[in-house]
Formats: sequence, C-alpha cells, structure tokens
Amino acid sequence: MSRYIINELSVDDLEDVLKIEKEVELSPWSRESFLFELLNNKNALYLAVRSKKGDLTGFAGAWIFKDEAHIATMSVSKSFRGLGLGSLLLYRLIEICRERGCYWITLEVWEKNKPAIALYTKFGFVRAGFRKNYYDLNRNALIMWAGSLKNKSYNERLKKLNKQLKK
Ligand SMILES: CC(C)(COP(=O)(O)OP(=O)(O)OC[C@H]1O[C@@H](n2cnc3c(N)ncnc32)[C@H](O)[C@@H]1OP(=O)(O)O)[C@@H](O)C(=O)NCCC(=O)NCCS
Repeated sequence: MSRYIINELSVDDLEDVLKIEKEVELSPWSRESFLFELLNNKNALYLAVRSKKGDLTGFAGAWIFKDEAHIATMSVSKSFRGLGLGSLLLYRLIEICRERGCYWITLEVWEKNKPAIALYTKFGFVRAGFRKNYYDLNRNALIMWAGSLKNKSYNERLKKLNKQLKK
C-alpha cells in the first residue's frame, strides 16, 4: 500500500468526493450533506485515500460519540476497488477511533452489498440487527458492529490485518 497515502478529507476534496459518490448506486450523499459533515460536524472524522500524486481514490467517515463510533460512509472509486484501499481506509479509521477512546463501532449496510459485508466481516464486524426499508422500499440494512475494540483479541486481529494490507 506504499503507493497510497491516508490523510484527512477536506472541503477542498468536495468535487472529487462527489465524483466518487456518483458511482455509488445506493443512497448517494448530496453536496450539502458532505459540506455539513466536513465543515460543521464536530463529531465527524473523515479520511481520504490518495495516490502518491494526490488524486483522491476513496474516503471514509465515522461519527465518534464518547466510547462509540458509527461508520457513516465509505466509498472507493470504481476503478480502484479490489486493490485493498477499502481495507486500508477501514484499518486506519478503526485505529484512530481506538486512539480516541472507542470500544464499539457500528454501521448499517445494504443486506445485498457483498463486498462491503465481506470487508466489515474481515474486520470483526458481526450482524447485530436489521432495519427494514432502511434505504428505500425493499432495500433493507443489516446493522453490524464490532465490540471490545481494545481487547487483546481485537489487537491481534488488527495486527494480522495490518500485515495483510496489500503492498
Ligand atoms: C465496499 C468498498 C468500500 C470496498 O472497497 P475496496 O477497496 O474494493 O475493498 P478491498 O479491496 O480492501 O477489499 C476488502 C474486502 O472486501 C471483499 N471484496 C472486495 N471486492 C469484492 C467483491 N467484488 N465481491 C465480494 N467481496 C469483495 C473481500 O473480502 C476483500 O478482502 P480480501 O481482498 O482480503 O479478500 C467498495 O466496494 C465500494 O466503494 N463500494 C461502493 C460503496 C459502498 O458500498 N460502501 C459501503 C457502504 S456501507
């Protein structure tokens, strides 16, 4: 992964974020939502993954409430999927959430979104609930969560995942 860097997403990335978000078929966020998140949401943490040249290839965001985090959004540009960038983003996001004192992390995901569910499962998320028609009529969400983020066993999982992050 040395060809990519992770750093903060900023409002200067907005146009590139919207280009990537356009590729998401399910409930893409609007310009206004991203603007609010990047400028006004004090609980938000947004990360970018960029090529060494600085081009935005993906982003992820979480809301942190004391010892709990909620993954709000995550997208990798279509032509860069499957290269390990989603794993890299999620790894770093969880690392920062842990550093900021989080023990639990949760999210919603469309029940048919196999790549995302596989990614979250790899990071120890398990199904914790179900929200019927969460995205729209007929599209349900799974609630997934990972707990005990500071336990020894989760540390071990992260260490293994860190080694696996694709070169
Ligand atoms: C979900 C998403 C962020 C994953 O990003 P990515 O860069 O492709 O992820 P990675 O390459 O790190 O792959 C992570 C894991 O996902 C799984 N995965 C990746 N592509 C997959 C596919 N096409 N089918 C099934 N599983 C897949 C694998 O388990 C993979 O881990 P492995 O390579 O160690 O086996 C990306 O597919 C995406 O942006 N999708 C559209 C937006 C979205 O659905 N966001 C999630 C909202 S909850």
